[in-house]
Amino acid sequence: MQTPMTKKLWAIGGGKGGVGKSVFTLGLAISLARLGKKLILVDADLGGANLHTLMGVRYPPHTLEDFLLKRMSRLEDIIIDTQIEGIGLICGADDILGAANPTYAQKLRILHQIEELPADLVLLDLGAGTSYNVLDFFNYSPGKICMLTSQATSLQNVYGFIKNSLYRQITREFAKDSLVLDLLMQTDVKNHGQGVESINDILLHLKEANSESFQHLLRLLKDFSIYLVVNMVKEEKDFQAGLIIEKVCASFLSLKTRVLGRLSYDPAVEGAVNQMMPFPLRQEKSQAARDLEKIAHLLLENCSLPQDSGMLSEAAGGSWSRFWRRTPA
Ligand SMILES: Nc1ncnc2c1ncn2[C@@H]1O[C@H](COP(=O)(O)OP(=O)(O)OP(=O)(O)O)[C@@H](O)[C@H]1O
Ligand SMILES: [Mg+2]
Repeated sequence: MQTPMTKKLWAIGGGKGGVGKSVFTLGLAISLARLGKKLILVDADLGGANLHTLMGVRYPPHTLEDFLLKRMSRLEDIIIDTQIEGIGLICGADDILGAANPTYAQKLRILHQIEELPADLVLLDLGAGTSYNVLDFFNYSPGKICMLTSQATSLQNVYGFIKNSLYRQITREFAKDSLVLDLLMQTDVKNHGQGVESINDILLHLKEANSESFQHLLRLLKDFSIYLVVNMVKEEKDFQAGLIIEKVCASFLSLKTRVLGRLSYDPAVEGAVNQMMPFPLRQEKSQAARDLEKIAHLLLENCSLPQDSGMLSEAAGGSWSRFWRRTPA
C-alpha cells in the first residue's frame, strides 16, 4: 500500500517577487523538521539566490554553480549543514545565469540528482518570474505550491505563472500533436473569437476529434495539481485571494488547485529576516509560526489532491472572471 507521503520533491513558486516564497520555504522546512522529517532545501532561484541569507549563512562554501560548472559532480557533496537539526541546504548563486544558464539537459541532471538526495522531503525555492528555468523546475516537481498575496498584482502574476507552467507542460507532452498545439494557440487572448478560449474548450473539441488526445489531456490536468498558500494575510478578506485563484483556474484552465493555508502578516517575520535568524526559530508562539505548523501538518496528512479535477466546468461569471479574460498571461 502507498504511504500518504508519496511526494518527496516540492517546488514553491508563484511568479511574483517578494511574496514570501523563500520565507515560506524555510518556515515550512523548520516546521516539518520539528515533526521529525529530514529535509534538504534547494535554492533554485538561479538569478537572486538568498535562502542562505535567511538561514544566517553569509558565505556559502559551495553553491549550485559548483555543480553546474562541474567543479563538483555530486549534488550531495554541496549540501551544507545548517543550524537547524534535520535541515540541509543547497545554495544557489547570484550570478549563475551569466556563468552557466543551464540547458534543459543540465536541469534534468540537477533534478534527477535532487530526487536521489538523502532526505524525506526536498523543497525547491524558486525565483520570481516565468522563465523556462523556473517553469521547468516547477513542472518537474510532483509537489507544487504557489505563494500569493491578496494584492491585485500578485493575483495576476500567480495566475500567469500557473497558466504558463501548464501551457509549457502541455506543449512538452503534446510536442508532436499539432491539433492540440494549434488549439492551445487559439486560446491566446489575441486570437479570441475563434471559439476556443479555454482549456475546457480544447477538451470539448478533442472529445469529438481525438479521444486519445482527450484522455491524455485529462490525465495531464489531473496530475498537474497545485496547492496555494496565501501570504501576508492581515484580515479575513485577504484570504479570499486563494479562493479566487481556485475558481479562475477551474474555469479557464480546467485545473484543480486547492488552498492549503495561509500565512498571517507578522512583524516577527521581518524582524527575523533583518537579523538573519531563520524564522520561526525561537518564535514558536508567533501567529505566522502557528500558521506554518498547521500547513506542515496538512502537507504531511494530505499529500495528493482529490481525484475529481474540476474538468469541463462552465466558465464562471462575476466581475473577477471578466478581469481575467482581459489579462494576457
Ligand atoms: N508573513 C509575513 N509577514 C511579514 N513579512 C513577511 C511575511 N512573509 C514575507 N515577508 C517579508 O517579505 C519579504 C520578502 O520575502 P521573500 O524573500 O520570502 O520573498 P520571495 O517571494 O522569495 O522573493 P523573491 O522572488 O525576490 O525571491 C521578506 O524579507 C519579509 O520581510
Ligand atoms: Mg526568494
